[in-house]
Amino acid sequence: MSLLLIAKNRDLEPLKESLLAVDPNLDVEIWPRVENKERVTFAVSWNHPEKVLQNYPNLKVVSSLGAGVDHLLKDSSIDEKVALTRVVVPSLKDQMAEYVLNAVQNYRFNTARYVDQKREGFWSAHDAVPKSECVVGVMGLGEMGQAVASSLIVNRYSVVGWSRTKKDVNTFESFAADELDEFLDRTNILVCLLPLTEETDGILDLELFKKLKKPAYLINVARGQHLIEEDLIYALDTGVLEGATLDVFEEEPLPANHLFWNRPKIMITPHVASITDPKEAASLIVENYKRSLSGMDLLFEVDRTKGY
Ligand code: NAP
Ligand code: GLV
Repeated sequence: MSLLLIAKNRDLEPLKESLLAVDPNLDVEIWPRVENKERVTFAVSWNHPEKVLQNYPNLKVVSSLGAGVDHLLKDSSIDEKVALTRVVVPSLKDQMAEYVLNAVQNYRFNTARYVDQKREGFWSAHDAVPKSECVVGVMGLGEMGQAVASSLIVNRYSVVGWSRTKKDVNTFESFAADELDEFLDRTNILVCLLPLTEETDGILDLELFKKLKKPAYLINVARGQHLIEEDLIYALDTGVLEGATLDVFEEEPLPANHLFWNRPKIMITPHVASITDPKEAASLIVENYKRSLSGMDLLFEVDRTKGY
């Protein structure tokens, strides 16, 4: 039996080393130089080329190398009987919580404007956005969303949350799927941490932005396909939104001629909000690999019917 690591543009040697540090007896192969495809029962993937996993006849499990699994679910050539799982480790949640807190503070304290002013040698002070006008609404209260909500609360931000099912928490108000409008009505800073599914594709559109409390700001750290890009431009130009921080895009890398680059109200990072640490991921991957070999339930298994 062997474990396959597969990604298009990522050096997977550090992950292989980390896996072997956990268990030196593992047989780990890195795509595309795979010696024996028949022996592969477990694959760890990040954006693998579609259909390539069809070539592994004994594949039982595919694990995402990150939290998102949309790249696995969109590959219809992965047999329905193959179980899907994902990597969620503490540092992934911590990084996301820090990224979002930082984005909120950058908006609040006009960081982007001061960076521009420094470039021009221009001294001008701007009022910070009062904390009372920075109620953060977190869409998606899963592993990432709950970590983000907790860190904001520790930093004394008011938080509301929205998810398919209402959460029984006493530190912030949680809204269920059919309470979206009430949630938006309470939110100034909208943070998208939803998985990309048929239901959430394109959810960040002009109609939704208009329902936010003013002043309104957007932070999208989930997937680019959640956002209708032209609606964001329109919302920024018409004052519906004050600005946006985007880590994810419909097309990545963001093309050099994309409209977003020249917009001062849009902060851009290249899909780095939270990156899987190979050392930390290795223990979880080995645990799931061993569980799959002995027929045990997997940790963080994906529910194919829900799409996340
Ligand atoms: P998760 O644990 O699966 O949580 C998903 C949350 O979204 C759950 O609270 C779920 O509700 C809610 N949800 C799903 N569909 C919904 C719908 N139609 N309406 C309302 N709520 C819905 O996911 P996660 O681990 O937190 O990760 C979320 C996403 O973050 C990933 O899918 C990935 O795309 C993104 N991400 C990005 C980065 C980055 O670097 N930019 C890093 C990590 C993750 P229930 O609780 O009721 O099920
Ligand atoms: C990153 O985007 C992840 O899904 O982990």
